[in-house]
Amino acid sequence: MSPISDALRTQLVEQAIAARLQAYAPYSRYLVGAALLAEGGQVFTGCNVENAASPAGICAERTAVVKAVSEGVHTFQAIAVVTGDGGTPCGICRQTLNEFSPDIWVIIARADGEILYELPLTDLLPRSFGPANLRDV
Ligand code: THU
Repeated sequence: MSPISDALRTQLVEQAIAARLQAYAPYSRYLVGAALLAEGGQVFTGCNVENAASPAGICAERTAVVKAVSEGVHTFQAIAVVTGDGGTPCGICRQTLNEFSPDIWVIIARADGEILYELPLTDLLPRSFGPANLRDV
């Protein structure tokens, strides 16, 4: 059950579509946009930023998380991710989201605005390893 309204979901997908147009992806040509809704209602967008030395590149989802965390925002309600084909967040991005908001709602859409999946991160990253594992060591 979506924790956000239809209007907010549409807004996040539109913001992710716009962010995707900023993608710097000259190597893969696979453009990704993300719009991350913080607990307080602020939205942080992100795009993938590739690099000639490929491991130095960063995904759209993590760009958005890094922007938010660098501004002191650590808890999130939802993230919309937009690609050309409806691809889902990679494993590293799932793990990064899990660090801050294991229950975040994930909306996967295509660049034409069609929403393909909506699900909690716990469905994408079951039995996750997270901060709680290190709390009492
Ligand atoms: N990419 C993302 O931005 N997010 C993902 O979750 C999957 C992959 C980017 C990384 C790279 O720039 C391009 O898509 C192809 O892998």
